[in-house]
Amino acid sequence: VDDDFLPVVCLVGEGFVLRSWRPGDEATLVEVLDDPDIERFMNTVPFPYTRDDAHTWVHELAPDISAGGGAAFVIDPGDGGVVGSLSIRRQDRAGGPVGIAGYWVAAPARGRGLAARALRLAAPWAAAHLGLGRQELKHDLANLASCRTATTAGFSATAVVVGGEVHRDGTPRDIERHTWTGPLAPDR
Ligand SMILES: CC(C)(COP(=O)(O)OP(=O)(O)OC[C@H]1O[C@@H](n2cnc3c(N)ncnc32)[C@H](O)[C@@H]1OP(=O)(O)O)[C@@H](O)C(=O)NCCC(=O)NCCS
Repeated sequence: VDDDFLPVVCLVGEGFVLRSWRPGDEATLVEVLDDPDIERFMNTVPFPYTRDDAHTWVHELAPDISAGGGAAFVIDPGDGGVVGSLSIRRQDRAGGPVGIAGYWVAAPARGRGLAARALRLAAPWAAAHLGLGRQELKHDLANLASCRTATTAGFSATAVVVGGEVHRDGTPRDIERHTWTGPLAPDR
């Protein structure tokens, strides 16, 4: 994928922006993804996370998500830095496309509901501009912070799948699915 041909999107939230990944973000990725909650709850993120992994994310995987009709955003506090990640991948299913949301927030920036605010900004945007009116996410049933994040952003819990995923350590994990039910009223 040639990054130059992807549309540049920046969504402005309160106290943060959602922007594209760019060269220079790799060092922060390597630093913040060395985190026990990431290891426990984000099975698709390599652990330990290397500089090569970060390069692949910034230059290949994130652009591929955008090129595939989704979006991969940095949660940027407004100074060009990286305090989190929010992606919505497009998955084509028989019933039509579905956006699959995923997120993390760097440990020092947690505790302020940043992921929920970012998701609440991005989900309606993806519905309106990417045609992703159906969106879902899943989290480890024990991941209560992610469950709260999803619910606050308008993704209601819809199903628990016992042993729905196998963790990188080989153990089965129970998974909860959430489904987006449309934009929330602004005052919620
Ligand atoms: C999930 C994550 C992104 C949330 O970060 P955040 O936006 O800073 O969220 P907060 O820490 O503000 O917590 C959000 C809510 O969860 C609650 N919460 C946080 N940690 C919790 C815990 N251990 N147990 C119970 N509730 C918890 C908070 O009290 C808050 O509740 P509220 O909405 O009622 O105020 C962050 O914890 C993270 O990056 N975790 C590791 C990666 C991960 O799990 N990603 C999601 C994979 S599905």
